[in-house]
Amino acid sequence: MYNYIGDKIMTKLLSGIECRNKLKEKLTKKINKIKEKITITVISVGNDEASKIYIKNKIKECQSVNIECQHLHFEKTTTNELINLITKLNKDKNITGILVQLPLPKNIEENKVINTIDYKKDIDGLTKSNIAKLYSNQKGIIPCTAKGIIDLLEYNKIEIEGKNITIIGRSNLVGKPLTLALLNKNATVTTCHSKTKDLKKHTKKADIIIVAVGKPNLIKKEMISKNSIIIDVGINRINGKISGDIDKSVYKKCKAITPVPGGVGPMTVYEVLSNTLECYELQKNKK
Ligand code: GUN
Repeated sequence: MYNYIGDKIMTKLLSGIECRNKLKEKLTKKINKIKEKITITVISVGNDEASKIYIKNKIKECQSVNIECQHLHFEKTTTNELINLITKLNKDKNITGILVQLPLPKNIEENKVINTIDYKKDIDGLTKSNIAKLYSNQKGIIPCTAKGIIDLLEYNKIEIEGKNITIIGRSNLVGKPLTLALLNKNATVTTCHSKTKDLKKHTKKADIIIVAVGKPNLIKKEMISKNSIIIDVGINRINGKISGDIDKSVYKKCKAITPVPGGVGPMTVYEVLSNTLECYELQKNKK
C-alpha cells in the first residue's frame, strides 16, 4: 500500500490489515485441520476503557477462525482468587490458552498472577519461563506486539539483520521483549526511554525506529533520517480520534511507516491467534 500525493508515490504505508489477512489465510488452513475445538480464556479486572476495546477485538478475531474465546470479567477481585482461577484453567484440558489483560488494578500482584499461567498456555508470552526463552534465544511464545512487528517487517521484506534499530519505550509488554527479539535476529538495537538524553541522536542514526510510548506527535521530521522505516505502536485517543506517537510531518520524509489505526494493532491481535496455535501444538507435543 502506498501513500499517493497527486500521482506520485510517496511513503510506503505498511498495512497491518493486509499483512494480517495474508498470514491469517495460512493460519486458518492449519486450524481447520484440527478436529478438536480450541478454546482460550481471557481474564480482565476493573474498568480500563482501552482494555475493553482490545478484548472486543481479540474475541472477534478468535471467532473469525473458529477459536472459542471465553471472557471472564471481574469488577473487583484479589490476587489469590485469580491464582486459584488460573490454577484450575491450567489443569483444564479443554482450555488451550490463558490471557490476563493488562493493566490489572493496583491491589493485584500482576507478576504473581501472570507467572501462575502454565508456560504452555501462555498465549501472551509474558511468563518468566517464556521471557527466559526469549532471553536465551530458545524457541518459546513471543509477546504478541513484538512478534507482530517482526512478522510485519518480514512480510514487507524489510531486512532486520545488521540494521540499526532504535526502540523508544522499555515496557515489559512491548519495548523489552522487542529489544530481545530483534537482538535475536541480529539487529543492532538501541532502547530509549523517558530518561534518555538526546533522543534525536538515537533516532537520526536509526534505519528502523519503533515507538511505543503513548505520546502523540513525539517523533517529528527533524528527528529522523530520510530513508528510515517507522513503526508506530502508539494508540492515543484525542477527541474520539485515534492517532499514534508519530507527528504527521514524518509521513512525507520517511521511506515507510505503519498507519494508526491499521498498522501494528491488527498484527498484535493476529498474534494472539498465532500464539494460541503454537500453544496447542506445544501441548500436543507436535513441536
Ligand atoms: N494490554 C495492552 N496490550 C496488551 C497485550 O498485548 N496483552 C495483554 N495481556 N494486555 C495488554
